[in-house]
Amino acid sequence: MAETLTITDNRTGKQYEVPVTDGVIRATDLRQVKSGPDDPGLMTYDPAFMNTASCRSRITFIDGDKGILEYRGYPIEQLAEGSSYLETAYLIVVGELPTSDQLESWKGAITRHAALPENIEKLMEGFQQDAHPMGVFLSTVGALSTYYPDAKHISDEQSRSTQIHRLIAKVPTIAAYAYRHGIGQPLNQPDGNLSFTGNFLSMLFQTKEAKYKVNPVLEKALDVLFILHVDHEQNCSTSAMRGIGSSQVDPYSAMAGAAAALYGPLHGGANEAVLRMLNEIGHVDKVPAFIKRVKAGEGRLMGFGHRVYKSYDPRAKIIKRTADEVFEVTGRNPLLDIALELERIALQDDYFVSRKLYPNVDFYSGLIYEAMKFPVTMFPVMFAIARTSGWIAQWQEMVLDSEQKISRPRQIYLGSARRDYVTIAKRT
Ligand code: ACO
Repeated sequence: MAETLTITDNRTGKQYEVPVTDGVIRATDLRQVKSGPDDPGLMTYDPAFMNTASCRSRITFIDGDKGILEYRGYPIEQLAEGSSYLETAYLIVVGELPTSDQLESWKGAITRHAALPENIEKLMEGFQQDAHPMGVFLSTVGALSTYYPDAKHISDEQSRSTQIHRLIAKVPTIAAYAYRHGIGQPLNQPDGNLSFTGNFLSMLFQTKEAKYKVNPVLEKALDVLFILHVDHEQNCSTSAMRGIGSSQVDPYSAMAGAAAALYGPLHGGANEAVLRMLNEIGHVDKVPAFIKRVKAGEGRLMGFGHRVYKSYDPRAKIIKRTADEVFEVTGRNPLLDIALELERIALQDDYFVSRKLYPNVDFYSGLIYEAMKFPVTMFPVMFAIARTSGWIAQWQEMVLDSEQKISRPRQIYLGSARRDYVTIAKRT
């Protein structure tokens, strides 16, 4: 028997049967519920989309209560253990794990597209040296739309596929250049003989004097961090990607908006905020006083809490292990002791326990990035490199979904009733 929800409208005494499919009702089915002929129909009010599904998706599954994260059905723990970032990017975009031939051809396509057009390099040179690399990143991604006008053919599968390769390939180069520009150094061109993360590290840290030797532990750790950040279903930046993309704009313009959403301190800017917070606390002894201030509402414990996870973020567990491996190479980050003490106290404190606030992916990632010598301003950029494959997978799913239209929420108008315009001379 089909599942339905029965609604009784006390205003009119009428009853309505609304179909329930996949555990949800369609908000538009409520439009038939009217208090009278002039009523446009019932709407739902859901600021910040706390309980509204905006799409049907087959990409990422999260069970926030159980701490489960799966890409295309594969548990994040298994992907972090056995896969690579580029293989996971293929999985997330295409939907299946690649065969060896498919993976080789995917890697070849990404490698071929890694360099930046010369005029885009010139554009990047125009930024102030102290420009935040995330601002440089999102502006440059948007600027790519001017260089690749063919990207507007979003219904053309071949064109989409080319933009997907270009985006995944070029984001590390843009990120590396944003960093190099900030330290007043020229761009190191991509090296197709290195792995995705090896090439990124080399573009960042290669100097004129000596060939940069990629440390395999750091290369692998970065790869794991990238896998963990690939996708996270309908988060703030992904919703921005879909929302902007729903106007049928090209994917570079949509991704510039997604990257802007990621820049905020409540989203991808959180790992940067965590490091600033740890530095501000300064010493383990000062942790109890800091927790007291957070509980009094004077700021948040950055890297804690999540809209979806109401238990330990599964990515945070993997990152904690990765941190140990990295610190064996780089030496222990002294801020780790402060982070561990914050976690220890918070996990016992009723304020955090009752609100189900646990460490999220960003609580430890910043410590690893810092140990690997990335400046804090680069942290959200690292996140954006990895999330690019998730954004474009979600964008492509939206483009191919016949149910999707231009994204356009409704509102409840609470402003002035109609009134007549008053000329400036007559205003008091
Ligand atoms: N520190 C202290 N208190 C917190 C925190 C925190 N980090 N997060 C939530 N709370 C409290 C709120 O004050 C609120 O308390 P109240 O009920 O007494 O008012 C309660 O917990 C619920 O918080 P909301 O803000 O309603 O939760 P929401 O789901 O909207 O926010 C968010 C989720 C933005 C992640 C929040 O937990 C936060 O600001 N965390 C810190 C920033 C952060 O780490 N962001 C990274 C998220 S992961 C990512 O984007 C990859």
